[in-house]
Amino acid sequence: MLHHLQLSNTGPAPDLQLELAPRLNLITGDNSLGKSFLLDVAWYCLTRRWPQELNPGLNGGAMAQPTQRSQAAEISFSVDGESDPNQAKTYHCSFNLEEEAWIGQAGRPVNPGLVVYAMADGAFAVWDPARNAWKRKGAVDTPEKTRAYVFSSRQVWSGLPNPQSDLGSLCNGLVQDWANWQRENGEAFSQLRAVLHRLSPDAVRPLLPGPLVRISRQDTQDYPTLMSPAGHAVPLPHWSSGVKRIIGLAYLLVWAWQEHVKASDLLARPPARQMIFLVDEVEAHLHPTWQRRVVKALMDVVDNLNQHTAIQLLLVTHSPLVMASVEPLFDPERDRWWDLDWSEANQQVELTPRPFNRYGDANNWLRSEAFDQADTGSLEREAILRRARQLIQSGAEASADEVAAMHSELQSVLGATDVFWNRWHFEASRHGWQP
Ligand SMILES: Nc1ncnc2c1ncn2[C@@H]1O[C@H](COP(=O)(O)OP(=O)(O)OP(=O)(O)O)[C@@H](O)[C@H]1O
Ligand SMILES: [Mg+2]
Repeated sequence: MLHHLQLSNTGPAPDLQLELAPRLNLITGDNSLGKSFLLDVAWYCLTRRWPQELNPGLNGGAMAQPTQRSQAAEISFSVDGESDPNQAKTYHCSFNLEEEAWIGQAGRPVNPGLVVYAMADGAFAVWDPARNAWKRKGAVDTPEKTRAYVFSSRQVWSGLPNPQSDLGSLCNGLVQDWANWQRENGEAFSQLRAVLHRLSPDAVRPLLPGPLVRISRQDTQDYPTLMSPAGHAVPLPHWSSGVKRIIGLAYLLVWAWQEHVKASDLLARPPARQMIFLVDEVEAHLHPTWQRRVVKALMDVVDNLNQHTAIQLLLVTHSPLVMASVEPLFDPERDRWWDLDWSEANQQVELTPRPFNRYGDANNWLRSEAFDQADTGSLEREAILRRARQLIQSGAEASADEVAAMHSELQSVLGATDVFWNRWHFEASRHGWQP
């Protein structure tokens, strides 16, 4: 588990500090305030590699750069190791301008357990302690040749080639693995089916695998399918962005866990006791129906991979529905909400742990510190209502012409059932207006 993260002179703020909760950490904040950056840094702290350093094809996940090159840039963090879960180890790294790299203590980094990072654009990264951890050569600790599995969104589907060999691959990718698992009909496929079932948008539209199909005479690949509500087997490449996002998550979680268990068996070791799951924009591409379910479903899915593995989640969201959806499960002992804001007073980005209030619904969440919306309707409606309220305040002094003009303005932006009409009609009869 990642306990503590502290940054200075790198990223969007001069200083950032997080004390992470052991289970669920939710991160909110306006665009460009550093939510994805924080996840990239968390991944770096846990694995000591920047995602883009391992896969230059990624859009994000670049190495953190110092803000002011003339000043020291530092990253400090503390993390529980697999071997000693109650003994957090603290590390400091600073940016070396000549090496253009973050330099920390020498030697083998702590093993944080399995780390999975789902980026906002469908890219993924997996660090597996049974396949990517450092190992001892003689008296020296050396990193594994494969430092982590970092996939662009395309490679999640097509797989990762093995740069050291023409034979075999680091990962076959979703299309081939799913098809192979389905043919074997063994544990991997039953786990995939269970994960898809739990991540489905609702009971009426389950993500149900159908038969393997060919798409074209020129393509020898058997494609997995999902059943459509109309009963058709639709090949995975033809599904929507939302379904692709969820099946990518489902596949990578099952792949990472299955391969981890196999590699641990080869090492004659039990599987990891800790898993850290970073998800950027957890609601990406999802309709509100799905947004209201996805966090609880993801928590259940990772819990079900292995009952003996403790899971820490860092989830970034822009969605008031996601925030409202976690109200019943949020436990202040184990969970925390982090909010990034631009402070006008201090002229800098600030990260604040907020007390998690139950605001009730998405509209109230939009008005909360998470989203800071003064109004949740159109900007035009907001402006006209502001002026209508001012007119109401002037009460009896308002002229008949002003009232009539405001009435027609209200008609131009408010729907027939808008709640503001009740107030307007009440005030009109109170002041004797004839709108
Ligand atoms: N590699 C980097 N090195 C230094 N600073 C960075 C780096 N990447 C991002 N930043 C800083 O973080 C800011 C944007 O961060 P980020 O992409 O994390 O925003 P975000 O909160 O995820 O926004 P959105 O909601 O639009 O995805 C940049 O403006 C920059 O100040
Ligand atoms: Mg982002």
